[in-house]
Amino acid sequence: MKQFKRTLVTTALPYANGPVHIGHLAGVYVPADIYVRYLRLKGKDVLLIGGSDEHGVPITLKARKEGITPQDVVDKYHRIIEDSFRDFGISFDVYSRTSRKIHYETASQFFRTLYDKGEFIEKESEQYYDDEAKQFLADRYITGTCPHCGKDGAYGDQCESCGTSLNATDLINPKSTISGSTPVMKSTKHWYLPLDKHEPFLRQWILEGHKEWKSNVYGQCKSWLDLGLQPRAVSRDLDWGVPVPVDGADGKVLYVWFDAPIGYISATRELTPDWEKYWKDDECRLLHFIGKDNIVFHCIVFPAMLKAEGSYILPENVPANEFLNLEGDKISTSRNWAVWLHEYLIDFKDKQDVLRYVLTANAPETKDNDFTWKDFQARNNNELVAIYGNFVNRSMVLTQKYYDGKVPALGTLTDFDKETLDSIGAIVKSTEEALENFKFREAIKEAMNLARLGNKYLADTEPWKLIKTDPDRVPTIMNIALQITANLAILTEPFLPFSAQKLRNMLNMGEANWKLCGNKEILMTGHTINEPSLLFDKIEDDAIQIQLNRLEQTKLANQAETKTAAPAKANVSYDEFSTMDIRIGTILEAEKVAKTKKLLKLKIDTGIDQRTVVSGIAEYFQPEEIIGQQVSILVNLAPRNIKGIDSQGMILMAEDADGKLVFVTPSSKVKNGSEVK
Ligand code: MF3
Ligand code: ZN
Repeated sequence: MKQFKRTLVTTALPYANGPVHIGHLAGVYVPADIYVRYLRLKGKDVLLIGGSDEHGVPITLKARKEGITPQDVVDKYHRIIEDSFRDFGISFDVYSRTSRKIHYETASQFFRTLYDKGEFIEKESEQYYDDEAKQFLADRYITGTCPHCGKDGAYGDQCESCGTSLNATDLINPKSTISGSTPVMKSTKHWYLPLDKHEPFLRQWILEGHKEWKSNVYGQCKSWLDLGLQPRAVSRDLDWGVPVPVDGADGKVLYVWFDAPIGYISATRELTPDWEKYWKDDECRLLHFIGKDNIVFHCIVFPAMLKAEGSYILPENVPANEFLNLEGDKISTSRNWAVWLHEYLIDFKDKQDVLRYVLTANAPETKDNDFTWKDFQARNNNELVAIYGNFVNRSMVLTQKYYDGKVPALGTLTDFDKETLDSIGAIVKSTEEALENFKFREAIKEAMNLARLGNKYLADTEPWKLIKTDPDRVPTIMNIALQITANLAILTEPFLPFSAQKLRNMLNMGEANWKLCGNKEILMTGHTINEPSLLFDKIEDDAIQIQLNRLEQTKLANQAETKTAAPAKANVSYDEFSTMDIRIGTILEAEKVAKTKKLLKLKIDTGIDQRTVVSGIAEYFQPEEIIGQQVSILVNLAPRNIKGIDSQGMILMAEDADGKLVFVTPSSKVKNGSEVK
């Protein structure tokens, strides 16, 4: 394998139109930070690059909606994002933003170089234009009727009702969201990057040259390449972005996906005058940490841009992750279905490492994964507290107690001692190997195995008993326990930097240095350790319930917003209403109706009699869970034969906008036969 002198790690620039959430963290920033911290501990030359992506149509839409400027929008979110990353311990060497002057210069220059080299195609095409507002309309600025599902309010790029992706010209009855007028077609000129021209190179470079890429990344690249690449427009008609630096390009800006990855270069330039050492020297290894929705841009489009420019290196690897869901549902900024980092940092003060741990242990590395608050709690309580925290605390408290905080000398080693000491090295080695291969889940599991090893060692040797029966043996045991603890303080630093730092302070150890990792004598005999305090504490149910309640509120708010209640029916007279005989009854028996999905056969005590009712609720209730349930029943509905069963009456159900059914039940128990009127 090629040895590199330097490593440049980039992290996808988050759009500055919302805060950062756990999906971003698990997919991109936590793994990148772990990797970079690891390399730094090894003394490697490495940079972690980040910044806010401040262009693109969604930002202009948000500004218009809130009656502020796009600059206001990005100023607000850039600050939130930058602060929360810092407080969470994502150790960027630079966190920049694409609205900075240095980025405008870098991006314009990049475009201009390609333009001057003749790397673009210029093409005229017909686009929707708002004649009243005098501007071309991005797809998101046009709404109309979806040609697939017939719902109104579909956007020019996608119908959110049926999820179909659309072209603006597919919309029936299109309207501009700016003026409300009907847009007209108008010709406009744009610049295209001829990806088709770069296809042979990309095929060779990725499919032959980078078979080692993660299979989800390699597979996505292969299917793009197999479909055949098309020229892609790199400019847009928009008044927010980097102006196209060419005469006669008024009102045109670089497409956000053209300028944003160049933002990695601008940020590096902002950081150091030596930036070319990282971008233009093939002894540097370029790595892009991204989520799976960014794969095509980082593996195909940006490399084609870099290659066309000619003086840059290409990414060596792109360890993209899949998606993290939240409590079973896709994370969504617009639906507010997320755990926002800046809120987490308030709700769980000084618990950065807990979230870092959970997101790493459950990272969506090879498939989508689910974050649940219960799992968060369990991993904290059962792993961080019970394994890591417990071991560290025992080894330090016992040292204080028996040896006044001084590391005792090693005596004669038993086979078990030797085995244990050897395991330290083995665990360090497998953690390293997993890290080198971007397998962070596996790496953190390995690192935790060191704490497990320590726990097991103390549990098996029981120094608290030996101190009475065989006190000469105890110094050796405590020495070994302390060496494991010291190793933990280095080994877990990339994953849990706050706790590892705290632990090193407690051990009076100084800075972490990876070279010591695996060493059996990190702490010298006689070295004094400090008073221990707890590294992790238990998270109680209350704290978790608050989070679950908040999500429940979000769900209800979203339902109220997206689903409108059915329109009211025509009036009826009171006499007409009172012809209906509705009673309260109790379900006595329930069973599934054979060969049907929806039907339950119920036996109901109506107070008047016991009767059979067939009800279409089997998808929502198990027969055994509804026995004894009080329900409302329309008892004078004409009997009907359903699947060969005589059904006498109908159970009343409330149906929400999603079609979910619940019983209409009296708010407190009443006698069967009570009338509803
Ligand atoms: N803002 C984009 C997103 O959130 C990512 C941009 S990555 C960069 O999906 F390469 F363009 F910077
Ligand atoms: Zn639709």
